[in-house]
Amino acid sequence: MSTIERRSHRWQAAAAGAVLVLAALLVSGCAGGPDPEVVEAGRKDFVGTCATCHGEDGRGKPKLGKDLHDNEFTRGLSDEELVEFLKKGRPAWDPLNERGVDMPPRGGNPALSDADLAEIVAYLRTLQ
Ligand code: HEC
Repeated sequence: MSTIERRSHRWQAAAAGAVLVLAALLVSGCAGGPDPEVVEAGRKDFVGTCATCHGEDGRGKPKLGKDLHDNEFTRGLSDEELVEFLKKGRPAWDPLNERGVDMPPRGGNPALSDADLAEIVAYLRTLQ
């Protein structure tokens, strides 16, 4: 093998290494989706508190909570804004309220912390 050939082999090995590193970066980037444990904690709190009005599956109930699947309102808010919304709710007298029924602050469960609400938001994102 000539010196030039050996050099070109070393260069190829380096290029292959760079491709591997890039591929690994891409894969780890894609794995950065929602943490399944956080989503599951949020789902449990949702079933415990929100399901009364929004249904266990989040599909909503007639004259009560709205369908939260493919929901335009939640899609339009950032995670932080959605937590703020859940902290306040939407009283029946609010002009934006369509059902004439309270969406109570923290779903009517003051035991839900802001962190719990953030987990619920992570779950709501999976319905979108
Ligand atoms: C006592 C019943 C009740 C409970 C419990 C409740 N909600 Fe609601 N929720 C409502 C009602 C009623 C509305 C719709 C108000 C309206 O007409 O604008 C609503 C609206 C919402 C909306 C806005 C949807 C939209 O399209 O405008 C979100 C998001 C939401 N609720 C999430 C939750 C979450 C999360 C919980 C649990 C922490 C929860 N709700 C608990 C009754 C409830």
